[in-house]
Parts: sequence; C-alpha cells; structure tokens
Amino acid sequence: MKFITLAASVALAALSLTSARPMLQARQSTCPVNVLSCSSASSGVDSCCLPTMGTLLLVQQWYTSLGPSNEFTMHGLWPDTCSGGDGPSDGCDSSRDYTDIQTRLENYSGPGASIMDDMNTYWGSYTGDNNSFWSHEWTKHATCISTLAPSCHPDWVQDQDVYTFFSTALGLRQQYDLYAALANAGITPGSNPDVDDMHAAIQTAFGVDAEINCESGALSEIWLTFNVQNQNQYVIANALSKGSCSGSISYPEKSGSPATVPTATTTTTTTTAATTTTNAGSMTTTEASAPTPTSGSGSGLPSGRQRGSCSTNGATVCVSSGSSDQYSKCNSGTWILNQCKKGLVCYSDTQTSTHCA
Ligand SMILES: *[C@@H]1O[C@H](CO)[C@@H](O)[C@H](O)[C@H]1NC(C)=O
Ligand SMILES: *[C@@H]1O[C@H](CO)[C@@H](O)[C@H](O)[C@H]1NC(C)=O
Repeated sequence: MKFITLAASVALAALSLTSARPMLQARQSTCPVNVLSCSSASSGVDSCCLPTMGTLLLVQQWYTSLGPSNEFTMHGLWPDTCSGGDGPSDGCDSSRDYTDIQTRLENYSGPGASIMDDMNTYWGSYTGDNNSFWSHEWTKHATCISTLAPSCHPDWVQDQDVYTFFSTALGLRQQYDLYAALANAGITPGSNPDVDDMHAAIQTAFGVDAEINCESGALSEIWLTFNVQNQNQYVIANALSKGSCSGSISYPEKSGSPATVPTATTTTTTTTAATTTTNAGSMTTTEASAPTPTSGSGSGLPSGRQRGSCSTNGATVCVSSGSSDQYSKCNSGTWILNQCKKGLVCYSDTQTSTHCA
C-alpha cells in the first residue's frame, strides 16, 4: 500500500461507500486535509495522519571522504518536537529495533525500485560500516515517526516502513539539493565563505533558512526543517536555530569525484511551492548516481525481461531501456518483475542498476 495522496484519499473516500475494504478507507479518510503538524489545528489529530513529533530534521553532512565531491550526504531524518526538542535517545518501538537494515532493504520486494545504490552513494558511513549506521538511524529515529508505523498501513508489506523511511529521506535530499543551492550563489568547496552568505543562499533556494553546523571552524552539517501534512507530505519550514558556525568558515573540497548530472530532475512528487509528496518509494528512482546513466540500447547493457535465478540481490535490469516502464529486480535469488511509477520509464545505468524517469 502506498501512502495515499490527497487526490487519492478523496477518491478512496468516495469508493469506500461500495468498497469491500472499509478498514483502510476508514483509517485514511479520517485524516484532516491539509492540516500541518505543529499548527494549532494539529492538536489531537490521529498519529497515523501526522507524526506525534511534529518536526522532522533532514540532516545532511559535508564529510570530505564520503560521497560524490558535489553532493552532501545523508546523516538522518530525525523527529523533533515542535519547539525543537530532541526525540528519545533510544527510539520508540523496541519491537522494530533492527540491526540488519541493509539486508532488509535488499530483501524488500514491495512497491518502489531498489535504493541500494543510492544508499551506498549518498548515505555512507565514515567508518565504512554502512549497515550499522543505517540500523542506528532506523532504531533511534525512524521508529519515532508515528506515521510510518505498520499499524497505520493495513496493506503494508514486510519492511515497507524501512523502505519508506530511507527512500523518503533520499528523495528529500535530492529535492533539497544543498550543494546546488550554495553553488548557485557562487559558494563552492575549497573556499571560506561567510556563514551568513550560506544562510542567504539557502533562503534564496528554498524560501526558508537552515541550521548550519561546524566542527573546528569547518562546515559539518546542514539541517533542514520539515513539518508534515496529509500523512506523507513534507513541507519545508524555517529552522529554529542558526547553528554553531559563525563568520568565515572552511568549506573544504571532498576527495571523491563529482556525481554525474541526473538525466531527469522530474520526480513523481506532487509539488506545490513548499510541499513534497513522497509516495512510498517512488521518488528516489531518479536520483543521480555514478556512473553516468546511459541509454541501454547499443551500449552493452543488459536488457529484456530477466527470469529465473539471479545472484546479485537488488540488481535491476530494464525490460527495454527508454521505452518500457517495467524492470526486473533480483530479490532473494529470483528475478521479479517490477514497474516504475505511473508515467515514468526505466533507463539502464549500469550492468545492474536502473532508474525510472
Ligand atoms: C532476507 O532474505 C533471505 C533469503 O530469503 C532470508 O534468509 C533472510 O531471513 C531475509 N532477511 C531479512 C532480514 O528479511
Ligand atoms: C558504504 O558507503 C561508502 C560511502 O558512500 C561507499 O563508498 C561504500 O561502497 C559503501 N559500502 C558498500 C559495501 O557498498
């Protein structure tokens, strides 16, 4: 079951008069429309409709040995109280304290394309143990996002909460591209910008300010603040704090190579001025990812529907790059057929990965 967007929930509410699955519609149609978390109208709203911790921080890091040289990478998506108080230090649902997020993401067979490439590119750990990092972020933070609880989603498949959390965060990272926001204002790595100019650049790009944090006078993290409406629409908001940097700071160059330009910037998101609808898992499929996405035809990349057994969990192959929305995905040793979100087409990137655009 995908998150239900506003239009869809209206349609479902209508359908529910004759539907054989009244529970789902009943649950969804009780969500008040366009009520934003942390607004005065949000008090008492069902925790499946709005996160009980009304603020989410998208925490991106600038770590010189991690990720493409022209991209921030993910630290986490952290629930906070409306006044900026931290969430619990040890998570909110011990029954979902997972230590095997990598396997869960690789095994996941619900809606949405594989996000493993993007996870390893944009959510790496400086220790090299990406799975431990992801598992920590999951257990400590994601289990506190009440709208993701499986009980809120009657048609949830195994680990869809895990997939939705990570794909949503990656999608927001892509949409709120901090590197581009700074570069568009002439602020690039290898310089010592005034942090006030960085705040201004982010304000220009996103219409809100961010929290900018430093370690030893060097940029370390930028935090963007979101509120939520309609269960899964993330609405960017002003940061409550300026962060720890002051004056001229170091914005060092990274050691990696630049990420290639994404072939498509359109996502399946429903976007108003400051609203992102993150359907479960569909929006990260247009992430930029090295190496360069190329057309599958004549490039030696695999194509055609794959059947039977496979060896690389998470690998994806377009049925026909550039002309079909279907792709095969290697799931627990067997190829299964998947489909890009409506209106998108599958493109081959490498021997084992694709994107939908
Ligand atoms: C992943 O899939 C393998 C093979 O089917 C299975 O043995 C394992 O238990 C699964 N792990 C998780 C965390 O779902
Ligand atoms: C973990 O993340 C790092 C940094 O993005 C990446 O270089 C590395 O390949 C990832 N590890 C695996 C096993 O993919």
